[in-house]
Amino acid sequence: MATSAGRSRFQYLLHLAQDNLDFRIPEIKALLALRGKPFRPSESSREKCPFLCLDGLSEDDVRCIMARSVCAKSAFELWGHGKTHGELKSSLLKYPSENMSPFMQRDSTYRINVYTFNKTLLFEDRIKRIDALEYLPFEGTVSLKSPQHIFCLLEDYGTDPNNIPEHPEYIYFGRWIADGQRELIRSHSVKNRHFIGNTSMDAGLSFIMTNHAKVKENDLVFDPFVGTGSLLVACSHFGAYVCGTDIDYNTIHGRGRSSRKNQKWRGPDENIRANLRQYGTERMYVDVMVSDASKPVWREAPLFDAIITDPPYGIRESTRKTGSHKDITKPPDGIFVESHVPVSQAYHLSDMFSDLLNFSAHYLVVGGRLVYWLPIYRPEYCEEMVPLHPCLRLISNCEQTLSSHTSRRLITMEKIKEPEEQDSLAHLSDPRFSAYQGHNAFREKYFSGLNKKSGRDDV
Ligand SMILES: C[S@@+](CC[C@H](N)C(=O)[O-])C[C@H]1O[C@@H](n2cnc3c(N)ncnc32)[C@H](O)[C@@H]1O
Repeated sequence: MATSAGRSRFQYLLHLAQDNLDFRIPEIKALLALRGKPFRPSESSREKCPFLCLDGLSEDDVRCIMARSVCAKSAFELWGHGKTHGELKSSLLKYPSENMSPFMQRDSTYRINVYTFNKTLLFEDRIKRIDALEYLPFEGTVSLKSPQHIFCLLEDYGTDPNNIPEHPEYIYFGRWIADGQRELIRSHSVKNRHFIGNTSMDAGLSFIMTNHAKVKENDLVFDPFVGTGSLLVACSHFGAYVCGTDIDYNTIHGRGRSSRKNQKWRGPDENIRANLRQYGTERMYVDVMVSDASKPVWREAPLFDAIITDPPYGIRESTRKTGSHKDITKPPDGIFVESHVPVSQAYHLSDMFSDLLNFSAHYLVVGGRLVYWLPIYRPEYCEEMVPLHPCLRLISNCEQTLSSHTSRRLITMEKIKEPEEQDSLAHLSDPRFSAYQGHNAFREKYFSGLNKKSGRDDV
């Protein structure tokens, strides 16, 4: 079978899924960065469009992206494109025959698929589209069941379902290379997961976070607010060793009330390790332990390749940390006296994000990534509200809308240098945290927004 592995200077077309729009390009960029490749979209690529053309890649690069991406559905070696079928034809006729011929040999088998976005074509119209490609020099035999090569004609009818044009806005033709990992969303659905909680992270978003964090084989990944370990499940799937902490004893030890309907108490083996076992990645489990994220227990060193987490916002779980109301100042050296009695006190969002960034600056390796969710009250959001740290570069900031007034943003940062003394102290007084310092006012609005959405007062 002919292969184009190692060939470069080709254009590749990615067909992206039309959900989680904001997360798609940062995911592709992160996966390219994992291979040390730049993100070079070609001129014809349009925002929000499900089709993305990329330059400067090899087929191997594209296969590697597709082996990880949950935002991309399929990838094609792009042979031609245009606004009309006429333009497509001239573009295809200009495509070098030496690039086509290895896949059109007499002794090969092939199939042509027709895919339309935002329009359904009748069967006879699909056949007409295929017949109209008779100018291409196919010499092999058609095999619908198990072809050696699959080609695809893709027609884009825009993104407005209420205003579908008669003719496509853009048309592409290419050779299919690989499908993405959309199947992981179904196979890892929390609906069928062994151990779940009220805030278990959705499988698709867990894999997106893992990709934004550039998690790779043999990495050590840490989740300081681990809950039921959904993020550890996704990271372990891509070969990372995983560990986490949570303040809640019952969650860490898989005890207490069950989050399942028709089940009062958790069963004997409902825990994070069993979740990894369910997906065949138990060997990647390092451990989880009960610990308060505001008071890290780790030896100070750049221990983690990625920190990936979904902190509590006080919506469905409380934002608490250990400590007495009277004793709210941290000793400067971070050492707590042995007589300390760990009663709990409120953990303000401003402190939580400040602690998380500071922790990441100290415990990530240089080049390692922090990926976390930031709650947003939309009417007052501005980019300056995103917490920054001198040791962490902001890589992406993607919105997931929850209601007209509320959303959460997936923030990805990369460690660029080891902290010096002034770095950790400087950012705590940074005015950029001020939006979160007014924690109560902020949370009140955040809560009332969510209440409006759900029609409840007890969220
Ligand atoms: C949004 S949940 C995380 C859900 C998790 N991603 C999952 O898939 O199950 C936040 C978790 O943070 C924990 N938590 C709250 N305050 C904490 C603290 N101060 N330190 C560590 N964990 C804390 C809660 O017990 C809760 O399990």
